[in-house]
Amino acid sequence: MKWIEVTTYEEMSRIAAELFSKQMKANPKSVLGLATGGTPVGLYEVLVEEVKAGDISFKDITTFNLDEYVGLAKNSPASYWTYMHETLFNHVDINEDNVHLPNGVATDLEAECENYDKRIAAAGGIDLQLLGIGVNGHIGFNEPGTSFDSLTHVVELTESTRTENAIYFEEGAEMPTHAVTMGIQSIMNAKEIVLLAFGERKLEAMEQLKTGKLSEDFPASQLTTHDNITIIYGGTK
Ligand code: F6R
Repeated sequence: MKWIEVTTYEEMSRIAAELFSKQMKANPKSVLGLATGGTPVGLYEVLVEEVKAGDISFKDITTFNLDEYVGLAKNSPASYWTYMHETLFNHVDINEDNVHLPNGVATDLEAECENYDKRIAAAGGIDLQLLGIGVNGHIGFNEPGTSFDSLTHVVELTESTRTENAIYFEEGAEMPTHAVTMGIQSIMNAKEIVLLAFGERKLEAMEQLKTGKLSEDFPASQLTTHDNITIIYGGTK
């Protein structure tokens, strides 16, 4: 486990971008696992700049996102599909056929979950997985109590996560109650992981992670057993 402490959000984003561009240059056909939320926005901005500068290319890159809300169609303003397109995909040379997010409006969600892990495996597995972390230690939408063995599945969102994420929904819009998320085992299957955490709100989770104590009550703790993980964290934002 590699811990990198930073003082600014920009520094965290730049170091994370270096890991991603290194991976993309070493293997232009890399399979990347991506996350949404506030934390990776700066990283995506750096990657967009690097594509515009001709430094890296998404032309042959394949991506799999961690999660999507149940009941939100792709083009819904608060869907993770929309977030990813507005934040990254619309600004880089990615082939839309290589973009994967769980389909939150699939008629058979069970089959959608099973297929998602199969599609990741068929692509050769995830080379580099990006993660953020919830204040309660969730990764993806794997809330406390989720089995470390879990594969992609449907989850009921906790009250704390719904409150945290309400800012992304327009006033009056109904906040989903469920989501599809890659499971903890699906995440652990990645060859390499980078976890980003910035700001005072995340410090307690970082302290808990550092203890190395394994508990399904703190889903991120399983990451301490991964043999190629970098944690970039810090700040009082
Ligand atoms: C996002 C995801 C979540 C977030 C986490 C942190 O795809 O799966 O686990 O990474 O909730 O969110 P932010 O970055 O908004 O603090």
